[in-house]
Amino acid sequence: MCGIVGYVGERRVVPIILEGLKRLEYRGYDSAGLVYLQEGRLHKYRSEGKLANLEEKMEKVADLDSTIGLGHTRWATHGAPSEKNAHPHTDCTGELVVVHNGIIENYHTLREGLQARGHVFQSETDTEVLAHLIEEQLDGDLVAAVRKALAQVVGSYALGVMWTGEPDILVAVRNQSPLVLGVKEGGGCLMASDIPALLPYTKQVIFLDDQELAVLGRNHWRVESLVGGAAVTKKIHTIDWNASMAEKGGYKHFMLKEIYEQPQAILNTYRGRVDPETGVVDLPEIGLAAEKLCGIERIALVACGTSWHAALVAKYWLEKWVGIPVEVDIASEFRYRRLLVNDKVLVIPISQSGETADTLAGLRRAKAMGATVVTICNVVGSTMTREADGVIYTHAGPEIGVASTKAFTCQLTALFLLTLYLGRVRQTITAADGLALAQGLLSLPAMLEGELPRLQEETAVIAEEFAKSRDFLYLGRGVNFPIALEGALKLKEISYIHAEGYAAGELKHGPIALIDDEMPVLALVPQDGVYEKVISNVEEVKARRGRLILIGSAGDASLARIGDRCVALPALHEDLAPILYTVPLQLLSYEIASLRGCDVDQPRNLAKSVTVE
Ligand code: AGP
Repeated sequence: MCGIVGYVGERRVVPIILEGLKRLEYRGYDSAGLVYLQEGRLHKYRSEGKLANLEEKMEKVADLDSTIGLGHTRWATHGAPSEKNAHPHTDCTGELVVVHNGIIENYHTLREGLQARGHVFQSETDTEVLAHLIEEQLDGDLVAAVRKALAQVVGSYALGVMWTGEPDILVAVRNQSPLVLGVKEGGGCLMASDIPALLPYTKQVIFLDDQELAVLGRNHWRVESLVGGAAVTKKIHTIDWNASMAEKGGYKHFMLKEIYEQPQAILNTYRGRVDPETGVVDLPEIGLAAEKLCGIERIALVACGTSWHAALVAKYWLEKWVGIPVEVDIASEFRYRRLLVNDKVLVIPISQSGETADTLAGLRRAKAMGATVVTICNVVGSTMTREADGVIYTHAGPEIGVASTKAFTCQLTALFLLTLYLGRVRQTITAADGLALAQGLLSLPAMLEGELPRLQEETAVIAEEFAKSRDFLYLGRGVNFPIALEGALKLKEISYIHAEGYAAGELKHGPIALIDDEMPVLALVPQDGVYEKVISNVEEVKARRGRLILIGSAGDASLARIGDRCVALPALHEDLAPILYTVPLQLLSYEIASLRGCDVDQPRNLAKSVTVE
């Protein structure tokens, strides 16, 4: 996600901003910029790539005496990474400037209207519309102008605003993107996307809530409701984290932080793409006309590792709801085998990084053979997104932990949206089914938010019992078979325990020979269409004294009757179980790896993005 830092006070602002942005680097970014106000003018500097490039620019600037400014590190969501698209962004006059973290969903419409009214845009970003909207409302009062401008905006924003007409204040606004304030006895105020940027300056922080606007001055601050302007009383918290913990938001590891970010990440991924009233999904970014999509005869999903597991789940969804044959290939196989690909095949490379060598090679081969290629990716401007015909972005934000968690559940979210979209376009899903499925998806963030603390507690207890195991077997059936594979991959890649995922029905074709009173077997047993079959499978394990961990539906008495350990999950549409049932497996792997003293975020031998064969 993007990083914001702002300061107004008595000290020189540029060093404070650069230090603050440095402490937000962990959030991931592709460009950076800052702006300060000096002698009545805005001075803006931006650079692509690492923060060091911006620092180098600033070293060449003389008389940096300004004491008010804003800084930003950009994680691109609209518009490729470039200096032109880097924040800050100004209005037409160059006297008003904004930095932003979030997604302006209605920016197309807003931009068209602004351009029709004569505004000239310098970038491809959604953010820039905010500067021009505020400019239009400016009438001597910055706060009032910000309030009126944001009344036109749909989407998420953490926003910093500065204007030469009121050179002693900054305006900060939060709506669904984090923004914290830092205050200090003796004066000086800061705003930042996250606590680490504040810590070198103060440990006294104020957490803005959604729809709140703050005015920061050299020795005063206030918070108002964004709508209506009523004063809001805020508590000042004292932070006792060290810098390293603060980067992880108080979590011990990035992986745990990213597991907990999944509710918001899933919401960010479907936001603006599904109508909650009708369940209608729209994916204009695919860039393919309806008749083209109706002409597709086959889909080929191509990916590696965890992304390949997402592809395996999508096969069940697409074949069930769109009625089209779906092949799933590991990319390193796809790129070399004899392919039956042509212009009637939709090839979908799935990749968090957008740089995985095998998947990229598969994309290029598919394009060369005339296929239409739409990639599902988490990194704007990555190679795959620039070479595909269309892109469906996951909005998981940067994933720092090598073991993929939130990117995976966001890939599933994007693939589920694609299923609903294709089903609507090809008229294979009824409006009623489409609405039920969409409502199931939209219920997930709140459900997950509520369950995460309990799931971590319960999996931590199970981890104590099994952390010394040498082998693990994961079982699942149907749409949850790929989740058994994913659970096994999570465990092996961060705890180094050998773990295998298997289709539950395969047990008697060999793996059952492994079962004894040492072998932990984790089975996914939601009460879905294959529930009875999986129960039979786990009974076979129990009969051979296997040690069973069952992940199933709340209220299912069989879990405790059969399992040695159980984790119960809330009821939901059976097709959505893969997204929910992944989370306890992520947490179990995390807890076991932590107990084993493994480097959870940077496991041995692994890289976050495998850019070589
Ligand atoms: C997942 O936990 C692993 N880190 C790995 O399997 C990963 O999913 C795989 O390398 C594919 O990466 P990508 O999604 O960036 O293409």
